[in-house]
This record gives sequence, structure tokens and C-alpha cells, in this order.
Amino acid sequence: MTYYLSAESEELISNPKSKIENDTVLRVDIITIFPDYFREAFDYGIIRRARAASLVDIKAHDLRSWTSDKHHVVDDRPFGGGDGMVLKPEPIFAAVESLAGANLRERIAAEFAASEQLVLICGRYEGVDERVAKALVTDEVSIGDYVLSGGEPAALVVIDATVRLLPGALGSETSASNESFTNGLLDCPQYTRPPEFEGMRAPDVLFTGNHAEIARWRRKAAQEKTKRNRPDLLKE
Ligand code: ADE
Repeated sequence: MTYYLSAESEELISNPKSKIENDTVLRVDIITIFPDYFREAFDYGIIRRARAASLVDIKAHDLRSWTSDKHHVVDDRPFGGGDGMVLKPEPIFAAVESLAGANLRERIAAEFAASEQLVLICGRYEGVDERVAKALVTDEVSIGDYVLSGGEPAALVVIDATVRLLPGALGSETSASNESFTNGLLDCPQYTRPPEFEGMRAPDVLFTGNHAEIARWRRKAAQEKTKRNRPDLLKE
């Protein structure tokens, strides 16, 4: 399926097989189960102009395009039990292979989730008159040490990280408390079917049905993953 944003804008949400102009400076592919989410997100200001000038080519791809079953299933239950679903490897492998031929603190999000109302002022240009911050604003939020072209993507991040912490927003209360950062660690690695994929086997412990053993393995694996990807979290 191919969607168009508006008369002037480039095709954003694409068929995975669509050709991408090869003179762009940067190509961005978003693999998502919600391509429509990005329908207008890149259609304003600097990013719109950069897209029009072919500096960047952004495509949002529907992960389901890379499924081959009748129901276009992209997820499955986690081996070893536990809440929620896991994105299956096959469609993601297929997507990346066909396309590439590769800080917001949770504490702040939790505070926001406990508020009654959030009014987000999205900065643009060089920022916002300082008196707004002085007299009006309770929190100035930076989502990381990088400069965005405006506060809108930061607002998307803040809203996303906040809304998922609202009671009832997730399928079960335990899914949020098991996830990355809530205990100061990244989440443990997850596996789903098939048990073996391209020579890589899911860890045997997950098939034992021994919940204590599985919990021990998950704690250790989360520690190792945090050490590898976010060693700064372990130093704090
Ligand atoms: N506006 C521009 N850059 C930003 C960032 N990193 N976080 C929040 N708002 C921003």
C-alpha cells in the first residue's frame, strides 16, 4: 500500500519495494507497525524543506509487509512466559535485509504520568523567550544532548514515554515495571518462535518451565546487556 502525505510532499509511507532516490544525503527508514503514525510528523518546517530539497528521504514502512502468512502476524508470546508479546525475528530480518541490503529519564515520565494536565510548549528557532520559562514553565525538558529542529519530536517522545506509564495504558501493570530503566537496568533479551533461526538458538533455560531459573537468567542477562549498551547506568 502506498500513501501520499499531501500534494507537494514526497511519498512518506511506502511500499517496501518502492525505489528510493539515490541522490539524497540521508535516507531514513522507519520500520513500524504504525506507519500512519508518521503521516504528518515530517511535513513541517526544516524537515519538510530538507525533504523537498532531497537532503533527506524518510520512509515509514509497515513491518507487516514483510510477513508471509495470511494474518500478517508480527508478534508472538515470549518464551519462558511473561507479559506482553515479542516482535518476531523473521519479518524484521526480512525488512532490514531488503532495505539496507542497519534521554528522557524515566523518572520525569513517571512524574508527568502522575500529573493531571500537561501543557507542552514546543520550542522553535533559537528557543523561547526566557520570561516564558521564568514565569510560566514548571519543567524545561531536554530529551538528550542533541539539537532538534524544534520541540515537536521531543513532545512526541515525552507524550509517548508518559502515556505508557498511565495505569491501564499497557495490557498489564507488570509489563511496565519489568521494562528497561524501571529498575535502573535495560530489559533482558527476549526470544520467540522459532526456537532456532539462522543457526541462532534461543537460550535453553527459557524452555525449562523453571520460573526461578528463568528469573535468575533474566536478571543476569539484563545486567550484561546494560553493561554492554549503557554502562553509564551502572556507574550512577
Ligand atoms: N528542542 C531542541 N532540541 C531539544 C531537545 N534535545 N530536547 C527537548 N527539546 C528540544
